[in-house]
Order: sequence, then C-alpha cells, then structure tokens
Amino acid sequence: MSADVMYDLVIIGSGPGGYVGAVRAAQLGLKVAVVEKDKTFGGTCLNVGCIPSKALLDSSEHFSMAQHEFSSHGIVVSKVELDLQKMLERKNKIVKELTGGIGYLFKKNKIDSHIGFGKIVSQNQVEVTAEEGSKTLLNTKNICIATGSVPVELSHLKYDGKKIISSTEALSLEQVPKHMIVVGAGVIGLELGSVWKRLGAKVTVIEFNNKIAGTMDTQISTVLQKSLVKQGLEFMLECKVTASRTEKSEVVLTYEEMKGKATKEISGDVVLVAVGRRPFSEKLGLEEMGIEKDPRGFIPVDNHYRTRFPNIYAIGDVIPGPMLAHKAEEEGVAVAEIIAGQAGHVNYHTVPWVIYTWPELAGVGYTEEQVKEKGLEYKVGTFPFTPNGRAKAMGFTEGLAKIIADKHTDKVLGVYIVGPRASDMIAEAVIAMEFSASSEDIARSFHAHPTLSEVLREAALNTNKLARQM
Ligand code: NAI
Repeated sequence: MSADVMYDLVIIGSGPGGYVGAVRAAQLGLKVAVVEKDKTFGGTCLNVGCIPSKALLDSSEHFSMAQHEFSSHGIVVSKVELDLQKMLERKNKIVKELTGGIGYLFKKNKIDSHIGFGKIVSQNQVEVTAEEGSKTLLNTKNICIATGSVPVELSHLKYDGKKIISSTEALSLEQVPKHMIVVGAGVIGLELGSVWKRLGAKVTVIEFNNKIAGTMDTQISTVLQKSLVKQGLEFMLECKVTASRTEKSEVVLTYEEMKGKATKEISGDVVLVAVGRRPFSEKLGLEEMGIEKDPRGFIPVDNHYRTRFPNIYAIGDVIPGPMLAHKAEEEGVAVAEIIAGQAGHVNYHTVPWVIYTWPELAGVGYTEEQVKEKGLEYKVGTFPFTPNGRAKAMGFTEGLAKIIADKHTDKVLGVYIVGPRASDMIAEAVIAMEFSASSEDIARSFHAHPTLSEVLREAALNTNKLARQM
C-alpha cells in the first residue's frame, strides 16, 4: 500500500532527535511523518533510558534520605520499608505519560505517525513494515535517519536478560539483587549502580580505565568517586573482565588486574553490563542504497547532516559524537531548519554532560586535561559547596564547582561541577559559554541568595582568587 501523500520529510525514529526534529519541521510548515518500530514513541530516552532512570534515581534517593538523612532534620520515621513494585509502577506511569505526550504533540502539530519498521528503499521512499507484516510505502522529498543506539554486548558476557543484563532490564528488576556487579563505570554504570545500592544491594563496579566517569574532568570525577565510595559503592579500577560462567544462582566473572597482571574471580547474582552503546543502523536499507557506515556502524554525515544523498540526513546516536538526548534534539532542529532553507547549526563545544548520581556531576566545554593537551594558557577557579548557605540548609555540602578560563582573555573554556543539583546549575555555564562570556561576566552577574548557584559565582571570582564567601 502506498500512502497517497508526498511528505516533505519522513523521519525514521521517534526518540528525542526524531520527535523534536519533526515538531520543528512542522512548525516551519513542512508536511512531516515519523516512522517508529516500537509500540510507544520516545525511543531509548523516554522508554528505557533518561526518564525511567531518573524516576528510579529520585525514588531511591528519597528512600536513602528517609533512612539516613531525615533524622538529622529532626524527622523521626519509625520504619522505612521498600515497596519495589510500587516504585516500578510509578516509574512506568511517568514513562507512559511522557510517551503518550509525544503522540499528543504529533497530533497537535499535524505530524503523521506510522508504526512499523522503516527501511529506505529509494532516495524518495521509505517502506514501513508493520508488526503483522503489512507494508506501506511513504513518498517523501527528504528522509532523516534518527534510529538511535542499543547497548554494546561483550562476546564473553552475553546478555541473558535475567542475570547478565543491560540498562533496559536494570530499570525493571523485580527484586533487589544481593550483589550487583556493574561492568563499566560510565554514565549508566554509575547511575543504575547508585539506584540499586540505595535500594539495598551490594554493588561492585569493575572499570577498565583508571578513573570513573570517562572523559569528565579528573579532579571532579575523583570527588564523585569519593562520595560514591562513602555511600558504599565499591570500585575496581584498571580491571578487565575476560570470561564469565554461571554457577547455580551466581554469575562468576574472571577479570585481570591490569596493574599486577593477576587474574581473579568475583561473583554476583546480577551483572549489569554498561560498557557503552552502539548505533542502531541495521536493516535500514543503507547497504542497498550505498549509504556508508563506519566500522562501528555510525553513519558519517557532512556538516549539514547529509549522507551521500543530499536529501537523506542522519542525526543523534546513529552519527558520530556524544550519545546524548539533548545533542540529538539540537541536530533534529538543525535538520528541520536546513530543509526549510534556514541556517541550522549545533555548537558542539557547549554540549553539557550530566551524571545524575548524588552528588550530581555536570560539565561543559574543555576539561583541565584537554586545555593542557591543547597547550592553552589557562587559569582555574574552584569553590566548594561546604560554606554555601543553601547547601547547608539542604544538608548536603559535598562537592565543588570549577571554572577553567583563558589566562589572557578570561573567556570561559570549561565548567565542571560535582555537587547537589549540578544538573540544573550547568545551564548557566552553557549560556555563558554560548555567549563567549568571561569568568568575570559570571562573577559580576547577580546570583540570588541563598542559592546553590552562588558556588559557581564564587568559583568564577576565584579564577582571580577573589572568592568572598569563605
Ligand atoms: P560510557 O561510555 O559512559 O561508559 C562505559 C564505561 O565502560 C567506560 O568507562 C569504559 O572504560 C568502560 N568499559 C568498556 N569496556 C569495558 C570492559 N570490558 N571492562 C570494564 N570496563 C569497560 O557508556 P554507558 O555508561 O554504557 O552509557 C552509554 C551511552 O549512553 C553513553 O554515551 C552515555 O552518554 C549515554 N547515557 C547518558 C546518560 C546521561 O546523560 N545522564 C545516562 C545514560 C546513558
């Protein structure tokens, strides 16, 4: 069957890249369709990523606070119990509301949605195969591939969905594991490791690298690691998992300590593998169309997100770059604007990174390691949360803010924060960098008192050793 419409744009994938791009294109007057293979809209982020993980992070944080923090506020709670079923139901309800919200957005913006697997069959046609096998052909002037990514699987640690799991299953465990082993101390490992630790599991994180939190500024990730260790997470850095076997109810992992070259074993009842994600670029008709993929499956694009065909675009996790929902969103907007004849553009230097542990870690721009590597002359201002009035009132004063600025021009090159609500605080740094602010611009701007944001202002003052609050 052929839908008798000529679309301006067909987007394959309804994640943050796809749905935000679709809305922007519709706002610009384009006739748009979105193709989605899953039963709900929203992609990884809304269904099995950002949103459900944040719901569980918030719930588990409340649980932990009720156990460990309330008494210091003078709140006496006699018995704190976990109703995991209810916690998971709450998470599912949030996901349902938000994925349903995208359907509403599509209707409101007159965007057609086609449920089924999308495949590019010609430069102007996308074939949609529904679950029961029926096919619909969509005719379109432009196509945008926004198919996202899936968890990487290790050959010696294959997912079984029960004991060896990816982030997807880690969001719906029906019981708190006794001992969860997390492979990978990146974003997912730290966030979901924190959730299950707070809910009562013993959590051991095995990491290949010599630091947690991957590419984040080392001074800042070291502070986060100390906080997480205090909460009971155990880290085994510079260790490489080489084999696994299942014994009764346990998974036994063999790992190599890269420093001493010793080979050891560790066992747990659940192993969460969080070693990265890979682009989802299979069965989309790319091979048949001669659209290039790199060896890891990413689709290379030019600076207007075009593949070898000028009307076939790709955005989000399926192209090289950080795998972040907000990066995909901005690329979706850029493609819509480019198709509409505008100057769509994304400034990759100001993409913020956030790890939603507690304390949270957030950053934008260059780390101190990167400015050193680039040979830039720089100055650093840091300031701790300890003396901040609002942090004291909240009862959480761990962490610090760090601003890296050009030594001569004072232009902000990077901002890294580990502390309470760092995820919200980083927005100010993003705007500052987007407008090429100096650290003095941040220091001289009003910051309401008492707020956590004053820590960032003091860090800005401290690039010239002028902090006032200590
Ligand atoms: P990641 O790339 O953040 O971290 C993977 C970690 O696993 C790295 O530290 C790496 O050194 C380690 N590793 C790789 N192979 C290993 C091995 N064999 N043994 C031990 N350690 C090993 O990947 P992650 O956490 O799986 O997240 C995937 C993607 O999803 C990331 O790109 C991330 O940006 C995105 N994401 C973003 C979130 C956020 O913005 N808050 C939340 C969750 C995911």
